[in-house]
Parts: sequence; structure tokens; C-alpha cells
Amino acid sequence: MLDGVSLHLDPGEFVGLTGSSGSGKSTLLNIIGGLDRPDSGSVTVNGLDLTALRRPVAYRREVVGFVFQSHHLLPTLSVQQNVELPLVAAHVHRRERVRRARALIEKAGLAGRERADLAELSGGERQRVAIARALVHEPLLLLADEPTAALDEATAERVLEILEEARRERGMTMLAVTYDPALIGRTQRMLRLQDGALSELPAPAASTSGGPR
Ligand SMILES: Nc1ncnc2c1ncn2[C@@H]1O[C@H](COP(=O)(O)OP(=O)(O)OP(=O)(O)O)[C@@H](O)[C@H]1O
Ligand SMILES: [Mg+2]
Repeated sequence: MLDGVSLHLDPGEFVGLTGSSGSGKSTLLNIIGGLDRPDSGSVTVNGLDLTALRRPVAYRREVVGFVFQSHHLLPTLSVQQNVELPLVAAHVHRRERVRRARALIEKAGLAGRERADLAELSGGERQRVAIARALVHEPLLLLADEPTAALDEATAERVLEILEEARRERGMTMLAVTYDPALIGRTQRMLRLQDGALSELPAPAASTSGGPR
């Protein structure tokens, strides 16, 4: 379905990805995230060739953060527990886990909801939990499938600030599937998948770096 796709992301770069439904956007993210394997070709992230690894478990735990289109949160765990999960996998000490998860939950506008069951949350609230979880282990690369799709403008802006901060403070790189003009405004480049091929969309006239603010 993807054919001859070639893509390079610079450290700290935010790149957007569009394309019609079924064009392979999620598939491309899965391949870069080490969740899927390309039939041919290679994927190198931070000098590491994923396609050469048998099981890129450490890569998935440490290097990459993933905001899935369908959240993939664990419904039997609380907000706090969901956000802490990547840190559990990385054997981070409990106190540090709690501290880091709390901080992100608060930034995501969900302070006071730490103990809530996922079932009690709205779609947009769950999306913010998913974003907090994807960032809590401070990934070098964030792969995000429509991270602001279920959010109103003000809440989306809050999420964009968190993403921007991760770029500013630790040089995080992001590839995000998105149709949200606010998120598109924060990207340096927009790509489109069509008929298995990736093309770059012309830069908007106003600005090419970080939007018009
Ligand atoms: N695990 C799978 N096995 C076989 N085919 C799949 C699998 N996952 C997706 N596909 C197919 O691959 C194509 C691309 O799917 P993908 O999920 O990457 O699209 P997408 O661009 O993310 O679409 P959307 O915007 O609807 O999320 C679709 O035709 C889909 O049916
Ligand atoms: Mg998709």
C-alpha cells in the first residue's frame, strides 16, 4: 500500500501528515513506531535501524511516544495509572512516576481527575490522557494520529503548548496526522499520502516555521 515512501525528519522538526481515509497514514506511523514492518526498505531513527532489530521493544519504550487514533488506553486503570504506564515499563521509581504523571495530567487540564476511571471521561478528556501518556517518558520522537481531533479550540491550544514545550526543552521531533489548522500552523512541513506515495505540500504563504505568532 505504501510504495517507495521516503521521509527524513530533522531533530526538533514538527511535520504534519494528511491524506484521504485509507491512504496509509496510520500504517506509516506504525512502521516508524516499530509496530509494523515494511515489506522492504529501512527505517532509521536516531541512528538506529529499526528494520534490523528483531523486536524493537526498547525503542518503543524509550525513544518513541505514540498517540493512537483510537487512544488504546486501558479502561480498567485510572487516569494516573494510564499515564504512568510507560514509566512502569521503563522501571522508573514509583515516586518519580507519580510526580511526572501528575505534572502532565495537570498540564493537560485534568488536575483532580487522576483517580477517575477512564469510563467517566469524555472523548476529549481521554484524548488528553493519551497525549500525556505518550509524553511522560520524554520521547525523542512523537508519532501522533490526529492528536487534537476531539478537542475544542481552547483545549487543543493547551495540548499544542505541551507539544511545543517538549520541542523547546528537549528538541522533540513530531510526525502528526492532522487536519487541524491550529496544529498545521505549528508544523514546519506538511506531507500528503496519496496512492501509496508521499509528497510535500507547498508551504503556506504566511510562515514556514512555527506559525504566525
Ligand atoms: N492490519 C491490517 N491488515 C491489513 N490491512 C490493513 C491493516 N490495517 C490497515 N489496513 C488497510 O490499509 C489501508 C490503510 O490503512 P490506514 O489505517 O493506514 O489508513 P489511514 O490513512 O490511517 O486512514 P484513516 O484516515 O481512515 O485513519 C486501508 O485500506 C486498511 O484497510
Ligand atoms: Mg488512520
